[in-house]
Amino acid sequence: MPKCLISGAETETFLSFGRMPIANGFLDRGEFQSEYFFELKVGYCPESKMVQLTELVERERMFHENYAFFSSTSRRMAEHFGRFAEFVQRSYLARSSDPFVVEIGSNDGIMLQHFASRGIRHLGIEPSANVAKVAQSKGVHTISEFFDEALAQRIVAEHGQADAFMGANVMCHIPYMHSVMAGVRRLLKPTGVLVFEDPYLGDIIQKTSYDQIYDEHAFYFSVASVEYLVARHELELIDVVPQHVHGGSMRYVIGHRGAHPVSENVIKQRLFEQELGLERPETYQQFARNVARSKQELMTLLRDLKQQGKRVAAYGATSKSTTVTNYCGITPDLVQYISDTTPIKQGKFSPGAHIPVVAHDVFAKNYPDLALLFAWNHGEEIMANERAFTDHGGKFILYVPKVHLA
Ligand code: SAH
Ligand code: TYD
Repeated sequence: MPKCLISGAETETFLSFGRMPIANGFLDRGEFQSEYFFELKVGYCPESKMVQLTELVERERMFHENYAFFSSTSRRMAEHFGRFAEFVQRSYLARSSDPFVVEIGSNDGIMLQHFASRGIRHLGIEPSANVAKVAQSKGVHTISEFFDEALAQRIVAEHGQADAFMGANVMCHIPYMHSVMAGVRRLLKPTGVLVFEDPYLGDIIQKTSYDQIYDEHAFYFSVASVEYLVARHELELIDVVPQHVHGGSMRYVIGHRGAHPVSENVIKQRLFEQELGLERPETYQQFARNVARSKQELMTLLRDLKQQGKRVAAYGATSKSTTVTNYCGITPDLVQYISDTTPIKQGKFSPGAHIPVVAHDVFAKNYPDLALLFAWNHGEEIMANERAFTDHGGKFILYVPKVHLA
């Protein structure tokens, strides 16, 4: 039985997606033979309440100088990070005479640029060198390293302690969470806060958004599991704020134990989780059944469309879609190509399923009959931009929360 990365207790594996490649491992034809695979499976720990991967991929296979995810590809996300920066500045920096903020997984500087432009002392920590370079070119101070306790000690020695330590869609990527939290404890001033957000377990369960499960996401956080984790480091969860991005995320605010009042939101959200059954193993068994049903419905639809001679393409070469294509068995005869605006992905093939990734032009110049929306989390933004496609009779295929056309 695999052991929980947080409590060390035995976890209960409730779902395996089978053989899976690296989610962001877009590749050339010549690399097909040497493609790396692992078993993607998830478990629940009744002690820490943490849902987590029970087989992990080495971090250097995922985060490197050719990392394929650039944060600034979505305008909505750029706006979201502007608001995130404002929230931190307004709520936690106002009383500091010389504020200092640190962001982990700062990518191309999408959030820190707001602190940089206001002349606020800041530091980004971004191990993927190519995206870190983009941030540096925007004038965002960034070091290309993995954050852990040792790095936190060095930062404190060089820059002093921080008022705010931030992270978006990165905490859940780091299996060595105890080293991260020990680092947070060293790094934060006595009144400093950790503010991070990640896809929320409650949304994943409610929407059957199983594509949030892939190699980079070691953890699927809830209020209960985050409370358990931070309590082990004499830290305390003081607020939670649900976010609409990425199909439903949760923002967690954490301080040193006893340093801040605890918001009512924390208690309310914990009760909600109990009602949803996030602490009952049966909930995860039911989730596994829902996932199997979703796969069956999607594949039936794609095979029917093929029989009817419809042209189906996909929209958004997301990391999430690697779980969908490989678990469901979506091949290039069912989905001809994936349109994506990220230059580094174009001309490559999708991990495992080997569906060609093409520039948006290919889609726009010759619309398919249907577009399978892999970037469903950006659905509003994309559908607003693609009115011409739907006006032309095109339809989007969605599979979250249920398989349907839009
Ligand atoms: N915060 C951005 C990027 C999320 S992608 C956004 O929300 O859009 C996750 C990022 O975390 C990647 O750029 C990856 O290189 C980085 N990362 C992974 N492990 C890390 C670690 N241990 N310390 C700091 N950054 C890390
Ligand atoms: P995203 O869903 O943000 O992340 P993940 O890889 O974590 O699942 O990825 C969105 C992808 O979709 C990214 O490769 C950029 C692409 N994209 C488009 O091609 N067009 C668009 O209009 C948007 C918003 C995204």
